[in-house]
Amino acid sequence: MKTRIFIVGSGVVGAATGEGFLKAGHDVTFVDISEVRVRELRDRGWDARTTIDLADEPESLIFLTLPTPNDGHRYDLSAFSAGTASVGEALAGSAARHVVVVRSTVPPGTTEGLVKNTLEEHSGMKADEGFGLASNPEFLRAVSAAEDFANPWMTIIASRDPQNVERLRAVLAPFGGELRTFSNPAEAEFIKSAHNIYNATKISFWNEMWLVAQQLGLDLDPIAATVARSAEGSINPEYGIRGGAPYGGVCLPKDTQGFLGFADTVGVDMPLLSAVVEVNDRLAAIVDHEVETAAHADAGDLREQSMAATTTGQRESA
Ligand SMILES: NC(=O)c1ccc[n+]([C@@H]2O[C@H](COP(=O)([O-])OP(=O)(O)OC[C@H]3O[C@@H](n4cnc5c(N)ncnc54)[C@H](O)[C@@H]3O)[C@@H](O)[C@H]2O)c1
Repeated sequence: MKTRIFIVGSGVVGAATGEGFLKAGHDVTFVDISEVRVRELRDRGWDARTTIDLADEPESLIFLTLPTPNDGHRYDLSAFSAGTASVGEALAGSAARHVVVVRSTVPPGTTEGLVKNTLEEHSGMKADEGFGLASNPEFLRAVSAAEDFANPWMTIIASRDPQNVERLRAVLAPFGGELRTFSNPAEAEFIKSAHNIYNATKISFWNEMWLVAQQLGLDLDPIAATVARSAEGSINPEYGIRGGAPYGGVCLPKDTQGFLGFADTVGVDMPLLSAVVEVNDRLAAIVDHEVETAAHADAGDLREQSMAATTTGQRESA
């Protein structure tokens, strides 16, 4: 079925998203604040505009693919907020119920925080009543944006309202790949953040190892290619993904700490490996503390139970 779709912020992700939907037969309008960008998109034969107008539109899916750059150690959500506000104003002039879908990469909580508040403020409507709200983060790579959109290996849809999930499923499932749904948009936002940070951490791990290998006159490539197929953390997707469980045993604590000292002797600083040890030590301390607290609580419970048993004349049976 043909769906009315708006793409708000028609850069790399927006263009790839809209192009994929166009090719799937949907009715797509691209919106971008940049006139130069709008001209480029029109030159491709697409319907592109500098503002979003929903006055005479039927119910639609409105994808926010606005920029969310960082400013030092924080996200700069100013452009994202401005684009969201313009959608809120357009919603105010529409009789139909639209679903606003956050596809930009945003910090967890943004869809039900900033986006919901901005849309409500500018539309005068309540989320879930006047309009729907969902999260559908994008996983494509900039180098192969259109192909990645058309052939996803993982699609995430999150919304409190199952009807929004189903509307999105209907347009996204035909592209194939695994599709997972969540009710809390913050989970989808967290997935996208963790996805990128995991990739960044893996790349940094091998770059740090590359520095050590360089110092030893070793070629890292065949070493890394072998570890990529020998380490359980690499070949088993379930390994190491349980939070709140520090590594223990003999080898991991011994070899992380031992290698830190070894790298030092060959003059290589390993901040990532140091952080690995520190994160594990901190978590082990937290877990130990929780176990101790639980043990004390249990002991307290037992004392209370035995006092209660004494006063009521009951006895604990073994
Ligand atoms: N580039 C990638 O590979 C990639 C992959 C996955 C996710 N993402 C995420 O997708 C989002 C978009 O990234 P991108 O790479 O497409 O950015 P981009 O800079 O290529 O495109 C953003 C577009 O939004 C437009 N814009 C800015 N303010 C606007 C407004 N108020 N109203 C309408 N349009 C406005 C800009 O003119 C620009 O064309 C970001 O959150 C990014 O982190 C990017």
